[in-house]
Amino acid sequence: MGKIFHLVSLKHLLLVSIALNVSLILRVINISEKKILHSSSALVSKNNLHLSSSSSLTSFANARIEAQDGEERVINLDHGDPTMYEKYWQQEGDKTTIVIPGWQSLSYFSDVSNICWFLEPEFAKEVVRLHKVVGNAIAENRHIVVGTGSTQLFQAALYALSPQDALEPISVVSAAPYYSSYPSITDCLKSGLYKWAGDAHSFKKEGPYIELVTSPNNPDGFVRQSVVNRSEGILVHDLAYYWPQYTSISFPADHDLMLFTVSKSTGHAGMRIGWAIVKDTEVAKKMTKYIELNTIGVSKDSQLRAAKVLKVVSNSCESSSSEGENFFEFSHNQLATRWELLRLAVQKSGQFSVPEFAPQFCTFLSRDFKPQPAFAWLKCEQEEVNDCESFLRSKKMLTRSGKHFGFSPKYVRISMLDRDQNYNLFVERLSNIISS
Ligand SMILES: Cc1ncc(COP(=O)(O)O)c(C=O)c1O
Repeated sequence: MGKIFHLVSLKHLLLVSIALNVSLILRVINISEKKILHSSSALVSKNNLHLSSSSSLTSFANARIEAQDGEERVINLDHGDPTMYEKYWQQEGDKTTIVIPGWQSLSYFSDVSNICWFLEPEFAKEVVRLHKVVGNAIAENRHIVVGTGSTQLFQAALYALSPQDALEPISVVSAAPYYSSYPSITDCLKSGLYKWAGDAHSFKKEGPYIELVTSPNNPDGFVRQSVVNRSEGILVHDLAYYWPQYTSISFPADHDLMLFTVSKSTGHAGMRIGWAIVKDTEVAKKMTKYIELNTIGVSKDSQLRAAKVLKVVSNSCESSSSEGENFFEFSHNQLATRWELLRLAVQKSGQFSVPEFAPQFCTFLSRDFKPQPAFAWLKCEQEEVNDCESFLRSKKMLTRSGKHFGFSPKYVRISMLDRDQNYNLFVERLSNIISS
């Protein structure tokens, strides 16, 4: 009995000590959160920078923001977090709200007659409809495989396209500057099936390979085609940014395997939904198998929510003002303003450069325009600055170095999709960097 009491009291002591530690940690977190909130609460200064008298620049000029304690705050545009889109969705109110009763989404299965048995028919329907409305891809009479973001589909594609009985892993390449996650995702499990082999421009190895073609490209925004062009090549087209807010839609893409995501099309990165459009039945089956092994399907709740969001986007494109503002017009205009501001800041500073693009006709918006990518590929032009990321970090601006994209550290990638307040502050700070 005494032994039991001893054990119980030891257990209690342990529990009490854990509880005390947890509450201490929570207090520390709470205090630091309050500090962060305090230091980032904005003050609009009178000392505005006027880059232009154009009315579209007013919000920028008014957004001279400093931390309350006088210290400059850190602006983080490293990630491509698409919070710019919040404005549109807030404006649209309850249109995309869905209610999912407790008895729904219990089964693992969505449609057992489909190769992709966890694909919600309503989501598939809205994917096909949106591509038809925008004219950016052929999705009818193709296999659709849904994934937990296009990140999971990228891995499913590597699994499905790799020869299963080869003596060595198949090479995976992409032309530099390439999306910085490709090398780490490809090699994270040190697969025996596939292996990252770097820049497609310098890929010389004989034999089969997989080439990732990102168009428009992350990080530099250019429209791309495959560069290796050998008969044993298998292509994966990552078309995350082939939407009219970023680039002209010139034809409906119809490649063997295309990847799309709500993260960059509608801005719902947190929903974690992507889709692959696949021509070959065996490839679709293998991709489905990979997702079955990996996560036994994809959240039905997210698919239903994504279906609703895509439906509202298509409705906004198809009908009159009663259906709300055209989603792509709205976000296209937001990005146009941001690119205008960035170019003005680069011009004023004289220390940087950004890519120049040629205008192209967009079949969706029925006009010519220049690409306005989701990222700016900024180059530090000062001779003495070899590491642009460190240089900007010293000015409290967080970006991603060109070296992560297989390129020169004289370049950085900047997200163009953050909230207005962050973006505007960044551009203003950039414009004030002048030669010493
Ligand atoms: C080219 C490209 N593909 C895929 C992704 C990831 O998309 P998801 O959020 O759907 O996983 C990104 C995200 O930045 C990207 O830039």
